Amino acid sequence: MNDKQLLMIPGPTPIPQRVLHTLGNAAVGHRTPGFSAIIKEVTGKLKQVYKTENDLFILTSSGTGAMEAAVSNFINPGDKVLVMENGNFAERWIKINKKFGADVQAVSGEWGAQSDPAALKALIDADAGKEIKAVFVTQNETSTGMVNDIQALRAACGDHPAIFIVDAISGMAVSELKVDEWKLDIVVSGSQKAFMLPPGLAFISVSEKAWAANAQCTNPRFYFDLQAAKKNFDEKSTTPYTPAASLIVGLQESLKMMEEEGLENIYQRHAWYRDMVRAAAKALKLELLAEDKGASSAVTAIKKPGEIDVKQITKIMREKYSVIIAAGQGKMEKSIFRIGHLGYVSETDILAVIACLEMTLKELGWDVQLGTGVAAVQAMIMKGRD
Ligand SMILES: Cc1ncc(COP(=O)(O)O)c(C=O)c1O
Repeated sequence: MNDKQLLMIPGPTPIPQRVLHTLGNAAVGHRTPGFSAIIKEVTGKLKQVYKTENDLFILTSSGTGAMEAAVSNFINPGDKVLVMENGNFAERWIKINKKFGADVQAVSGEWGAQSDPAALKALIDADAGKEIKAVFVTQNETSTGMVNDIQALRAACGDHPAIFIVDAISGMAVSELKVDEWKLDIVVSGSQKAFMLPPGLAFISVSEKAWAANAQCTNPRFYFDLQAAKKNFDEKSTTPYTPAASLIVGLQESLKMMEEEGLENIYQRHAWYRDMVRAAAKALKLELLAEDKGASSAVTAIKKPGEIDVKQITKIMREKYSVIIAAGQGKMEKSIFRIGHLGYVSETDILAVIACLEMTLKELGWDVQLGTGVAAVQAMIMKGRD
């Protein structure tokens, strides 16, 4: 039986049966009052997850579509923008901004370490002419397994008029993010991460301050024009173009599940998985990329063990054990491998991935005593989450 896979990548993530059932429902009419009611309901619930009363739109695209919308709707060619860069997805902010003609200043940091709020504050404080129009950050850097301190980064910008734009694609509903309290102007996320859905939907929240920037923005856009999204949502609770309706029906179910579990519990559960994987890695004498402070609750990056090729690790895990984990990305493609633990993941899944990792590493010659990592996880499970 090789069609049963354990999906432990940082997205797409496993889909619960409850959600799968709804995805198999008959097609729905996307311009009906019934479907508008669903759009309204899920938008309201997404706002609760975002902790915001700002506008929030559901886009039919992967997360990158929402990232592009966050640039094309708010940034003018020639605008000076800062990007806090310390990973592959932060680099994507740079690439998109450059495509749309922005004058990008990358504030580069070490991959695996958190972005430095003091470095950002120094640049903001030095901007006497208020030339910086936007600051782009990544909440959870999926490529390195690091979570940024978004509250501190936002605080570093103080009252500067720049809009503050967050990629929360893999961090939303994994680690705390308070959009309104922390004054985050634009926040993007995606369906295939902690929302436990297939890829295909992206979500974007927009503050009043961001709308003011939008009113001045001349960059061309059509499919991702957020004014069209706002008009259609405000007037008819609908979307300008055909949405991925079945995914929105699935989202209705996954948001119900998230409501039942409770956001605080969801954050704690993810942090618990992070602690388990890190404890197992340490027990197996593996080196973690991110320090404990700043370690992601969504994904753990482990450094290449000795001379072992990380592609061999992911290959054996996949081919022998049907466990899917990820290699590194970008400049870390060969130097780390990553275990995703976000969304519909259980303690048993963590035990399984560690057990299979032990066998894989042993086969590849790593000095490991089988059961060491598993025992570390078992001890935590038996002790229980506080
Ligand atoms: C932090 C982060 N940003 C952006 C993206 C890109 O999203 P998508 O692949 O849905 O376009 C991802 C996807 O893995 C991500 O994890």
